[in-house]
Amino acid sequence: MASVLLTGGAGYIGSHTALAFLEQGIDVVVADNFCNSQPEAIRRVERLAQKEIKVYEADVCDRAAMRRIFEENPTIDAVVHFAGLKAVGESVKIPLEYYRNNIDSALVVCEMTEAFGVHKIVFSSSATVYGASTEVPLTEDSTTGCTSPYGWTKYMIEQILRDYANANKQLEATLLRYFNPVGAHPSGMIGEDPKGIPNNLMPYVCQVAVGRLAKLNVYGNDYPTSDGTGVRDYIHVVDLAQGHVAAYLKSKVGVNVYNLGTGRGSSVLEVIHAFEEAAGVKIPYEITARRPGDVAICYADPKRANEELGWRAQYDLRDMCRDGYNWQRKNPNGYLDAQN
Ligand code: NAD
Ligand code: UFG
Repeated sequence: MASVLLTGGAGYIGSHTALAFLEQGIDVVVADNFCNSQPEAIRRVERLAQKEIKVYEADVCDRAAMRRIFEENPTIDAVVHFAGLKAVGESVKIPLEYYRNNIDSALVVCEMTEAFGVHKIVFSSSATVYGASTEVPLTEDSTTGCTSPYGWTKYMIEQILRDYANANKQLEATLLRYFNPVGAHPSGMIGEDPKGIPNNLMPYVCQVAVGRLAKLNVYGNDYPTSDGTGVRDYIHVVDLAQGHVAAYLKSKVGVNVYNLGTGRGSSVLEVIHAFEEAAGVKIPYEITARRPGDVAICYADPKRANEELGWRAQYDLRDMCRDGYNWQRKNPNGYLDAQN
């Protein structure tokens, strides 16, 4: 039986995707160095799926370690490459670490697939490759360009995969451009567990909701949007996970790019209000200055993924808030709670 190698499979999106594959009866192997995740996430996926997962603690940049994984698992017929560093602000401060980790790991994935005759790669790209593009909704053909080293790593890896596919006519490379993944599995057993103070809106709101943080700073209310606050396309992580299964099942030769978003934009104030309603808690907030680098509006045209992958987001903003809150309430300190 075929199996799928998930690099970074213990992370936020990887763990939800591991569960989605297992629920479809597709086996997974995980390679993660746990630089931004906990082994506990995998144990919880195993409990939810009632299946064991073969996990390797390995750095994807380490060729020998990756070779061993492919040698020991000849059933691997695809790689979903999540492993990477992902904090936009941090990438500006330590760009070389971002380029080294993200580019090297992608190159090793390409080299190993070539060496072991594996032809399917699904890559975690990001709407960040649309840079400061102002044409919304963003289609896969919208202008690209980046505003951070993190973004450039995604852009460059997309190009590496295009060049690889050009030289290897059997390659099936799927580039998934995620919009804003949020929420958690409805069980509340797996979810997002950022280190330190969260940079992103939804985990920050969740931590305010459970009293771990006092109040939310809303970065600017003078954008050209309905209420002046920034608009994003939030997508439930379970929908996103299903998108990977669809991409694997519908994979085809060449390079295929898909936006994974809902197609609906929500402002920061809309998120706060949806959260307050779904969770039944008040979210104290204050309007502060704009955050440098933020765009006013970013949302997807997900038509191509809808039509070609037969995939469509099912959950709405209220579901995302309810499930994000459920996870945070059950695990106020993330996976650390399991170790106490
Ligand atoms: P995450 O940090 O939770 O998961 C990434 C995983 O990769 C972690 O488990 C980490 O330990 C692992 N990892 C990092 N470098 C590694 C290496 N060299 N070797 C082995 N493991 C390594 O992040 P996530 O939110 O699950 O994101 C997954 C992917 O999706 C990333 O590539 C990210 O850039 C991309 N993405 C995320 C978002 C988002 O908002 N979460 C948006 C767009 C794209
Ligand atoms: N925001 C606040 N307060 C906060 C955090 C965020 O008001 O404490 C606002 C931002 O200004 C923005 C919106 O909430 O208007 C969303 O911000 P996030 O940080 O949650 O998400 P971004 O759209 O800035 O970035 C995310 C990922 C990036 C990815 C990008 C595009 O973090 O990795 O989406 O996919 F590149």
